[in-house]
Amino acid sequence: MEKFLDLISEEMQQAFEAAGYDRELGKVTLSNRPDLCEYQCNGAMAGAKRYRKAPVKIAEEVAEKCGESRVFSSVTAVAPGFLNLKVKEDVLAEYLNRMRQSPKFGLEMPQNPKKIIIDYGGPNVAKPLHVGHLRSAIIGESIKRIARYAGHDVIGDIHLGDWGLQMGLVITELQERRPELVYFDDSYEGEYPKEPPFTITELEEIYPTASGKSKEDPAYKERALYATLKMQNGVKGYRALWRHIMDVSLPDLKKNYDNLQVEFDLWKGESDVHDMIPAMVEDMKAKGYAHLSDGALVVDVKEETDVKEIPPCMILKSDGASLYNTSDLATILERMRSYHPDKLIYLTDKRQELYFEQVFRCARKTGLVEPETELLHIGFGTVNGRDGKPFKTRDGGVMRLETLIAEINEEMYRKITDNREISSREAQETAKTVALSAIKYGDLSNQASKDYIFDIDKFTSFEGDTGPYILYTIVRIKSILSKYAERGGVIDKSLALLEAGSESEKGLMLEIAKFNAMMEAACEESAPHKVCAYIYDLANAFNRFYHETKILTEKDGEKKAGWIALLVLTRDVLETCIDVLGFSAPERM
Ligand code: ARG
Repeated sequence: MEKFLDLISEEMQQAFEAAGYDRELGKVTLSNRPDLCEYQCNGAMAGAKRYRKAPVKIAEEVAEKCGESRVFSSVTAVAPGFLNLKVKEDVLAEYLNRMRQSPKFGLEMPQNPKKIIIDYGGPNVAKPLHVGHLRSAIIGESIKRIARYAGHDVIGDIHLGDWGLQMGLVITELQERRPELVYFDDSYEGEYPKEPPFTITELEEIYPTASGKSKEDPAYKERALYATLKMQNGVKGYRALWRHIMDVSLPDLKKNYDNLQVEFDLWKGESDVHDMIPAMVEDMKAKGYAHLSDGALVVDVKEETDVKEIPPCMILKSDGASLYNTSDLATILERMRSYHPDKLIYLTDKRQELYFEQVFRCARKTGLVEPETELLHIGFGTVNGRDGKPFKTRDGGVMRLETLIAEINEEMYRKITDNREISSREAQETAKTVALSAIKYGDLSNQASKDYIFDIDKFTSFEGDTGPYILYTIVRIKSILSKYAERGGVIDKSLALLEAGSESEKGLMLEIAKFNAMMEAACEESAPHKVCAYIYDLANAFNRFYHETKILTEKDGEKKAGWIALLVLTRDVLETCIDVLGFSAPERM
């Protein structure tokens, strides 16, 4: 279905043509002055030079041609040459009725859907999740859902950090404590125990202890590095311990992501491509891309047009060890072979921007990807506390994700049960649902690249640009609809929206009509904040309408049914939007 803006642009283009001007000038845009008009066209200003005419003259001529318009109820030429537009109520109602009947409210599906892999989450096995991982998970999940809704074939991969020093640290600390374990006996030939030698609670303590020791004691760090190397090189006992660490950590990670309603299609990680590295490196050497520099193997990735220094991409360290780079390059190779994606999207902290620039250039130069494969890194800003510094716990430690979520859940529970009788089980469920909206909306409503302040009071507020406000609006609509049904009203496809009878009703309808243009842009630009901005406007428009309209007590049954249809559509659009943002609304709150 055409976008509403295209539908009215078409009408304006015809008017430009009829007045003897280039039809391209008739592009309509959203209004910069909502107090004066609903849409506007700046084509007369753009055409003034070319036609050597005062823009307002052109605008007047075009306005004249709109006299009989079937789309516009008013077209006014105003100085210095803008065209201010209002659309006819019946055209708007007809458009919304078509939206209601069409799949995905008429959002057009791509002719050539893309296969996209999104690499997000990126937790490090054995290390606790912290707020930095929160952003990757929240933004990545939303970008995935938006692209999927927009008709693309999307695979989400968690890309575990499961091959690094943290594994060696855990193994080293374990050896300190229990050197008698068979894993450390080089001559051991038997089967290793099925049961891991630690629980998740122990593991959660082992890693920070080991990490602390390695910072104090260089010899300890050396041992951990060596243990990492032995594990990577396939020493049997070390690999068995690696498996145990994975088996104990993954269910815990899964639980954390489940709580956030973040779902990955693939649970692959750095370890999955380890075996591909030697052949990949050989190939880079054989084709002359990689060369030695100070003992390390590197690929030059600088280009003539660079305005800043782009250092070479390091493939192997001088001791032959592979790096974070190497495993990302091998992962690209693996993804291309297994899935043939058209596009790869990565979500990490924006401090990794230069890093990804190097990796992408290297992948292109060495032919790991096709020339037309799109590679996109979305770098997000830091989560700050109210003091503007990176978010920390009260005693200054790194904030663990679980602690943070628990705090918000508590605050939400307190708000929901304040002065109200609601069974505690239901209140707890509702608090969790609303808390998730608070966290996710608080993050997603900012442009990803910006830092933002994690402000629990603000995020959990039922007023203002927040998740709870959006949910509150949805719940309000649901409650009107269920009262309507309780009183014998029928809610089905036969209901039809009528022409708006008030400013606020029209305002709401105009917001809904923007849905597909918004969703298309949010997908193209991987920009969940556009969905947030849209639903905030939509919720405001709905609440304005609600406060001015006595819906349930309306005597005129047909009018009332028309409003119910409008409410159903508003609810459905809002719920679709929060679903792509990655949260949902309760039935009541
Ligand atoms: N594990 C990494 C970290 O915690 C993030 C991984 C991001 N993805 C990637 N393909 N490099 O910083």
